[in-house]
Amino acid sequence: MKQSIATKYSLIFLATLVLIVAAVLLGVRNLKTNVLRNEAQAVTAQVVAFRAWIANAGMIWVKELPKDFHDFLAKKEFTDTQGTTTFYGKNPALATRELSTIVNKSALRATFRVTSDQYRNDANAPDYFESDAIKQVQANRDLKFVEGYDQGNYRYVEPILVKENCLKCHGDPKDAPPEVIEKYGDKKAFGYKVGDVRGVISVKLPDLTMADILPTMANPYTIGLLIIAVLINFLFTRYSLIKRLRALTEGAEAIAEGNLDQELKYTKPEHSKDEIDHVFHAVSLLRSSMNIAMQRIMKGRKAGDL
Ligand code: HEC
Repeated sequence: MKQSIATKYSLIFLATLVLIVAAVLLGVRNLKTNVLRNEAQAVTAQVVAFRAWIANAGMIWVKELPKDFHDFLAKKEFTDTQGTTTFYGKNPALATRELSTIVNKSALRATFRVTSDQYRNDANAPDYFESDAIKQVQANRDLKFVEGYDQGNYRYVEPILVKENCLKCHGDPKDAPPEVIEKYGDKKAFGYKVGDVRGVISVKLPDLTMADILPTMANPYTIGLLIIAVLINFLFTRYSLIKRLRALTEGAEAIAEGNLDQELKYTKPEHSKDEIDHVFHAVSLLRSSMNIAMQRIMKGRKAGDL
């Protein structure tokens, strides 16, 4: 390496910068997954709350069946002085499926659905990522969620466990309400015990790409701070190192040329920890010794002349 200190230092500075950027990007990747996971968990929390709300009531009963939401589990006639009204009952899973239809059609980033390895409704069939996640949460009950990236999407899957009040429709088919048997038969999604994984809530979010992240990172503040860092490094090498080393070279050359009276400008080692000051001091001592030696030689010569 025969390059100047300025060149060497610039290369080191560049290498440092590249390494720091790489470290930051790795950190950003983890942060990105955290951000997406938080977003997905906010969605599942809403779904869990929605299901719990309906489960507490058993079913929700509606009077109208709009076009896309004509599915129902049970039917009840209610007669009063106005006449007879029909109410349609929707169980938590059915209502959740309808909620997911609405959410997934809206412009929200997150889409969700409830699925299971033993699905009753074909619309709830799992895809390969969900099938694999269901197997994982069934094999390991401590697993609170499964996440991953798949075809440009962040995927998040959380198990739904069977509770006591689910057994009526997912335990022994003999206990099941007739409308469940009538609609889905007595084979599908029965035989569960409390604590079993009945299914999963599956959330899909578009992955955050570097094109999404970089604009937030490259704002005027970060760019300003970077320019300041470059400037500090430039000024330090230029004025604290290179300029002083040049002065030292010039001073030493002057001494070599016999110019022994020129004082070197530096801070004395007792007041400075700077190594360049120490070199200055050494050269300055050299100059004094040469001065003394020269004076002795001159004196000797004069004495010889006499
Ligand atoms: C009133 C009967 C009933 C009860 C109680 C009930 N379910 Fe269901 N469950 C159903 C029906 C009917 C479906 C099919 C819904 C559909 O068509 O989307 C279903 C579907 C599901 C699904 C979606 C997968 C599939 O089969 O398509 C999950 C997950 C599920 N139930 C979990 C539970 C859990 C957990 C509980 C207890 C908190 C519970 N269910 C209580 C009737 C019930």
